[in-house]
Formats: sequence, structure tokens, C-alpha cells
Amino acid sequence: MHGLLKKLALTGLLAVALQPVFAAEKLGYLVKQPEEPWFQTEWSFADKAGKDLGFTVLKVAVPDGEKTLSAIDSLAANGAKGFVICTPDPKLGPAIMAKAKRLGLKVVTVDDQFLNAAGKPMTEVPLVMMAASKIGERQGKELWKEMKHRGWKVAETGVMAITADELDTARRRTGGSISALQAAGFPAAQIYKVPTKSNDIPGAFDAGNSLLVQHPNVKHWLIIGMNDNTVLGGVRATEGQHFSANDVIGIGINGVDAVNELSKSKPTGFYGSLLPSPDVNGYRSIQQLHLWVSKGVQPPKFTEIVDAVLLTRDNFKAELKKKGL
Ligand code: GLA
Repeated sequence: MHGLLKKLALTGLLAVALQPVFAAEKLGYLVKQPEEPWFQTEWSFADKAGKDLGFTVLKVAVPDGEKTLSAIDSLAANGAKGFVICTPDPKLGPAIMAKAKRLGLKVVTVDDQFLNAAGKPMTEVPLVMMAASKIGERQGKELWKEMKHRGWKVAETGVMAITADELDTARRRTGGSISALQAAGFPAAQIYKVPTKSNDIPGAFDAGNSLLVQHPNVKHWLIIGMNDNTVLGGVRATEGQHFSANDVIGIGINGVDAVNELSKSKPTGFYGSLLPSPDVNGYRSIQQLHLWVSKGVQPPKFTEIVDAVLLTRDNFKAELKKKGL
């Protein structure tokens, strides 16, 4: 051993001296709704990337704008070099970018795209996200397929479309779903839209309830929404209005947020969920940031994660296991 190293090792200073070499790089991972298993999955795969590639992930919940901006300050104070973020509000984009720039932090967005002051997507900020329209179309096709399978008459069926149009990815998912249903032959006049006030089960439940009371003659319901919680809220509303599970087909998006529901002892109106790749989103986004911070490799402006599998009561355990979830 080199003389100086030997001396350091003997005095116990070597470990201290070498530590920064291994654990120096710190990267943040900020998510809007940490209560969703979706985001917990992204976090755990970001951690995995950190272990594989040699950086520490600072995980922060950012439910609102104030928390987001103060989180960025603390990241910088803690020596982080950048962060991945799913923003609580796309309109915060310019404020987040201004602060990050001032503090010298690099930014990669995940799931939800920033909007500029004119309300247009900030395409200059790298984004990793699911293929929103495609997964929506798949939702519509699978609903149609299951409706046919159950032998429902189209004339007696309505679509409850719970929307969150201010979020681009949500608008594209429900838009894709509605166009696929129409393309399959579902009449536009029987597709009813209702906006949710909040992106959680209670918000969607209220939205669903208000829609159901306006259409008392519909016998069977197809439920669409941008994610599992939205569809779950709609399903809970049909239960409250005494629809049996046989008369309701809800198909969510996220998959990992549907595990409790699909595990219930009896089937509910929540038929299944499309599982994209929260694992890939979490790993890929922070890997891109790491390469940017450590090697100067510019991330692609847009990375679209395409695959999705339909989880139902029959296959969800096996499918999640296949993906290591
Ligand atoms: C949005 C939704 C989340 C999840 C992600 C996936 O952020 O709020 O539930 O579906 O998109 O991209």
C-alpha cells in the first residue's frame, strides 16, 4: 500500500477520505402524491438505480407549490446536483426551472409535463412518461371487449368518463379511451363526461355520483378515468347507488394502485387495470439525470414508455411478479 494511504488507513482516516468518492452524488426525486403506490414504485426503482450506478436518492413528497420550491432549496443546501420531479401542478414549471437554474440544479420531469406561462408544454425540459393516448385507447378497447363478453346491449349502457383535463396526460388518456370506444361503435351520445375536483378516490366518487343521478335510466356502466383512483371513485359511486358488480366495468390505469381492489374476496365493478411501467419510469428518469450530472450526457427531450399489460383478478399476482413488482 502507498505510504500515505497506509498511514491514513491506520488512523482510520481512509474511510472518511474515500467516502465522498463513493457517495458524493446526490440526486432528488420529488413526487406530487407519495400515497399512490405508483410513486412509491418509482421511488424504489430510483433507489435501485442509485445502488446500481452509485448515487444517493433524496426522496421528497411535494404535494403543493410551496413545498416544491422549498424542497428545491433544501436539495441544493444538501449538495444535490439535480432532481427528477412529478410536479403537483404543471403550471409550476417556469418557477421550478427558474429556481433550479439559479441553484445550478439539473431537472428531469417524469409523468406530468410542465406548462409555460402561455399554457404550452415546456418541451425543452426532458420528460419520461407513459404513452398516454395509447394506453387510453387500450382502456377503451378492453372496456368494449368485456362489455361484449358480458352480452350487454349498447342501448342500455352508458360510459362514465371522469376527466381531469387540466392535466395533459390525463386528458390524452381519457381522450384516447373515448375515441377507441367510438371507433368500436359506442354511440357518442351515451358517453358522459364529468370532471373530478381532486385526483383521488373521494374526488372521483363525488364526480361519479353527480353523473349517475343525471342518468337514472342507464342499466350498465363502463367507467373510464386517468388512473386507478379515478376509476375506483367511479366504481364506489355505482355501489352507493346500488348497481351490482355485474352491471359495472371499470378499468383503471397504473396497476400497482389496484392491488388491494383486485385482492378483494368478491369481484367488484373494478374489472382490471392497465399496468404501464412505474419501475422503468423511476429507473430511467434518474439514470438519465445521473448521466447528465456525472458525464454531461444530455438526456433525450422525450422518452415514451409504451408497454402496458391488463391486470385482472385472475392474473395480477403473476403479472406483477414477472415485472418484479
Ligand atoms: C399522473 C397520475 C398518476 C400516474 C402518472 C403516470 O401523474 O396522477 O397517478 O398515472 O400520471 O404517468
